[in-house]
Amino acid sequence: MRLILLGAPGAGKGTQADIVAEKYNIPQISTGAILREAMAAKTPLGIKVEEIIKAGSLVPDEDVVAIVRERLLQPDCRNGFILDGFPRTIPQAKALDQMLSEMGIAIDKVVSIEVGDEDIICRLSGRRVCQKCGATFHTAYKPSQKGDACDRCGDSLIVRKDDQEDVIRQRLEVYHQQTAPLKDYYAAQNKLRLVMGQEDLADTTALMEKALQD
Ligand code: AP5
Repeated sequence: MRLILLGAPGAGKGTQADIVAEKYNIPQISTGAILREAMAAKTPLGIKVEEIIKAGSLVPDEDVVAIVRERLLQPDCRNGFILDGFPRTIPQAKALDQMLSEMGIAIDKVVSIEVGDEDIICRLSGRRVCQKCGATFHTAYKPSQKGDACDRCGDSLIVRKDDQEDVIRQRLEVYHQQTAPLKDYYAAQNKLRLVMGQEDLADTTALMEKALQD
């Protein structure tokens, strides 16, 4: 299965992608996570994008397209993949179509998780992430059983630098202007499925599952 997960920042793409990836045994490709790893390792790309990400803006199309091209060529993507956070602009979607056509494959479905802006602010201000393994929690909706430490690996949980309210609002604006138009792009290819994000994580997962079967 080859999937794209769309949705505003904090809509739950990473949370649901993690579940779908495990269920279908396909890799989850998060451009945000790859960029944060580059930032932590202080690679030339990481240094270049740090201020852009902290400000809540988008990294240039050519950088993320190059990341995804390299990742999709890895052997673990042969049986499918789930793209989380890519594409985010129409030029990225067009570059992906071109790349996949060169590889002789195509996206099966595009699922957009729909959540209102005020709920997003609540979700992101309660988000905690593991600085080592990247696992995501929420202080109210998905707390770690180990308090401020990660359930999965025991390392410390932190607040992401772009999860401050002013930056969240900027990310939402970028989403509405540049990423939301992708819904029409994929609807025109008859691949789009909308999933209304629920307050309960498991309820959203059940709706995702239905959208994938459909
Ligand atoms: P990225 O890491 O992709 O961030 P994002 O899209 O803003 O998405 P988030 O990771 O913030 O949220 P999510 O939808 O995964 O939600 P989550 O599951 O964590 O990108 C970061 C930055 O990198 C971008 O701003 C940009 O600068 C750059 N970038 C990345 N890709 C790029 C690209 N293609 N082009 C250009 N630049 C790019 O859930 C959020 C919280 O809510 C969690 O705490 C979770 O536990 C909780 N939660 C989840 N589901 C529910 C639920 N149903 N009910 C209640 N709480 C829930």
